[in-house]
Amino acid sequence: MMAREWGWWTEQKLDILSGYLTGFANATRKAGTTVYLDLFAGQPDNVSREPTRHMIRGSARRALDTSPPFSVLKFFEMPGHATALEKNLQAEYPGRDFRVIPGDCNDEVESVLQGLRPLNWAPTFAFLDQQSTEVKWATLEHLARFKRQGKPKAELWLLCASGLLPRGLRLRQELIDDNVACQMSLMFGTDQWQEALSATRSGRLSATEFRAELTNLMRWRLQKDLGYKVTRVFKVKNTSGSEIFDMIFATDHEVGDKIMKWMYSKAQKQQGALQDRARRQRQQKREEEQGKFGLFNAEDALPVMPTGFDVHAADEPAHPPYRASRTS
Ligand SMILES: C[S@@+](CC[C@H](N)C(=O)[O-])C[C@H]1O[C@@H](n2cnc3c(N)ncnc32)[C@H](O)[C@@H]1O
Repeated sequence: MMAREWGWWTEQKLDILSGYLTGFANATRKAGTTVYLDLFAGQPDNVSREPTRHMIRGSARRALDTSPPFSVLKFFEMPGHATALEKNLQAEYPGRDFRVIPGDCNDEVESVLQGLRPLNWAPTFAFLDQQSTEVKWATLEHLARFKRQGKPKAELWLLCASGLLPRGLRLRQELIDDNVACQMSLMFGTDQWQEALSATRSGRLSATEFRAELTNLMRWRLQKDLGYKVTRVFKVKNTSGSEIFDMIFATDHEVGDKIMKWMYSKAQKQQGALQDRARRQRQQKREEEQGKFGLFNAEDALPVMPTGFDVHAADEPAHPPYRASRTS
């Protein structure tokens, strides 16, 4: 199977995951048992699309590498990739308590959570690294309900592809793509997002505002409908600075929120430097292809890593979803 190619921003997302999982594992050490769920676990091999072409460790390996280790891990993946992933992970992590569940995570999640019922008191983290709108609201409901009375709900870290969805909908054309629209309603668990869409198509909202409304609607629903105490967003940008997707974190636990706020703040500080490095590397590659060789390697100009963290990092709370009646 060919290695999958990822941009530097995917690696940054996975670095946030690794950092958060370490914080989570340390903060929950006393519990003695922890659960990791990866609903879109991916392929065994991933490679950087940048000129360095280095291998990138995917989310399943990063979860298995976490120390102190997760007690139980469940990886969901479509059948084609699931077999290869399972084979690789078995070879690399013999003796660990994990399973790769082949199939659509939306169909499989309920029975897997049923099997984990004896552990519904244990701190649980679920990563939902979808590509666009694969996850269904019913799946988020199952995850949020997986808890014993009085225990914090499973933490969710969800990719919300707000930067890509407007293109998929064919926002600027006369007819929107009904398939994408249907998938969006299944993901949000409501068609309320269509109010913001109509406002965008008639020029009352800008495309940027529409994207922000999509992410806000998901956060609002996670808080108001599933009862999460806090949600927090990191905007993932590409080399040209375009916002491509948002990572939404939902938790009931103030320590979890504090750790993710720290991770987001650190990632935000690195973002500009990572963009600069990617631009320099591409420029260098172009020059090398043209037979020009610079005195310095782009790698010599490594990004300035943050020395501290901004505990006051701005993060707007979710607000009531866009309603046409709100503005008219
Ligand atoms: C963005 S990739 C995930 C990458 C992964 N987290 C990693 O770090 O390597 C999305 C993955 O979800 C899988 N997928 C898509 N729809 C799915 C579904 N309904 N259930 C389970 N997996 C799905 C795809 O095959 C793909 O490998």
